[in-house]
Amino acid sequence: MRTPIIAGNWKLHMNPEQTIEFVNAVKGKLPDPSKVESVIAAPAVDLYVLKKTAEGSNLHTGAENAYFEVEGAFTGETSPKVLNEMGIDYCIIGHSERRGYFHETDEDINKKAKALFANGVTPIICCGESLETREANKQDEWVVAQIKAALDGLTEEQVSKLVIAYEPIWAIGTGKTASADQAEEMCKTIRETVKDLYNEETAENVRIQYGGSVKPANVKELMSKPDIDGGLVGGASLDPESFLALVNYQD
Ligand code: 13P
Repeated sequence: MRTPIIAGNWKLHMNPEQTIEFVNAVKGKLPDPSKVESVIAAPAVDLYVLKKTAEGSNLHTGAENAYFEVEGAFTGETSPKVLNEMGIDYCIIGHSERRGYFHETDEDINKKAKALFANGVTPIICCGESLETREANKQDEWVVAQIKAALDGLTEEQVSKLVIAYEPIWAIGTGKTASADQAEEMCKTIRETVKDLYNEETAENVRIQYGGSVKPANVKELMSKPDIDGGLVGGASLDPESFLALVNYQD
């Protein structure tokens, strides 16, 4: 049985003071992690206080990006090794904003996945097509190619622990959610791809999130789909009440 995982992606929002305030507001009200795993992925500058404030609570922590080297002359980057030393559980990689604005390639994302696993941090690997690709009905081959490239050389054991987030670019921050059926269809395709690349057991273990305008009002329907194991949430994760409504969707 896969444990559902709802993760907030704060993107470039929130400072350390706001982070402390947010965590204190949600701390005692999060679901048991055996039922739903609650994660906040925050900007690197907030991670230290995020982790410290979350200590002893059901909140898991994540970074929004990391580099594939652990140290050296790489100005401005974040080390996967230091994330692990800080006790950060997850790291989002390959978000469409990083692919688009920061020119990250499939190869970079694959290297980052390997570096994170090598340092004990679980990657949340993002994939998803543009509106143009969907309108050309090429979304399946696009996403399958992204997944194949991202997973290249990863072991069965690693992929079993992995989280994959399907985020169609046209649904991010637009208020335009993919329908639950569209989201399910792609999450199922991703699981089948993992099955083809590995085996049935690995495909059953990998957790697949949907992301793109997930809100308290649509989370339940999305989570009712058999291949959707969670949500990666931008805007609706910035407010404590809204985040609590998302992670407590089973109530
Ligand atoms: P929104 O929930 O704001 O659409 O953002 C989705 C996203 O990109 C999460 O990573």
